[in-house]
Amino acid sequence: MRYVIFSDVHANIEALTAVLAHAARKRKDAWVFLGDAVGYGAAPNQVVERLRRLKGKLVAVRGNHDRVVLDPASGIEFFNDHAKLAARWTSVVLHPGNRRWLAGVPAGPLWLEPHIAACHGAPQDEDTYIFADSDAIEAFAAVPQAWVVFFGHSHVPCMYSLQREGGKALSFAFLKGADRIELFLSRESRYLINVGAVGQPRDRDWRPAYGVFDSDRGKLTIYRVVYDAHAARKRILDAGLPQILGDRLVRGY
Ligand SMILES: [Fe+2]
Repeated sequence: MRYVIFSDVHANIEALTAVLAHAARKRKDAWVFLGDAVGYGAAPNQVVERLRRLKGKLVAVRGNHDRVVLDPASGIEFFNDHAKLAARWTSVVLHPGNRRWLAGVPAGPLWLEPHIAACHGAPQDEDTYIFADSDAIEAFAAVPQAWVVFFGHSHVPCMYSLQREGGKALSFAFLKGADRIELFLSRESRYLINVGAVGQPRDRDWRPAYGVFDSDRGKLTIYRVVYDAHAARKRILDAGLPQILGDRLVRGY
């Protein structure tokens, strides 16, 4: 099976449009969205409507921002001030139909295949970040049946791999710096993979990232796509949202 995998759109319609146009040319059996359609950015209705209109099968898990926008009592106190403000603004402007659609997106993990999972933060918890080796070990342990787990939330394209034999040789790699990165995943190892963020990259590369995974060949390709980040920034400023949420799109962190 071939999957187009993308995450963390964060109400950035300019970035989503560029990624979907780029990915439209790829052969795929399903789109896989790892959550955070909304929050931070200024085009939540446009983004949700674009996701609703996607042609072909869409497998989507909700993100923590999606959850908090729909129900602030579900954790807005853990957001920083800019995220809080954007979540409250989104909650006001989101149209009822889009709100209903977003509310129907399930929490992860979802299983694309018996050994391939999709989640937002970590497989055991959508709010948990996978940043450190210890986070990766916990995540691997939470889904022992998984060969590959795709996750988002940190907005940083990266990969943890763990050798099956002995289970101790954990390694980490950033997946950045090129227009396109190709990897072949081994059946002898297990993987946690973040293909990066569409709408708010944080690895000092402003270009939206997404992945294409061929599960039969174990081949993963991560693409970086050029888009008009200044237009997305301007939309945020025009909406009266915090300037930093626009500025960071241009900076890439
Ligand atoms: Fe996010």
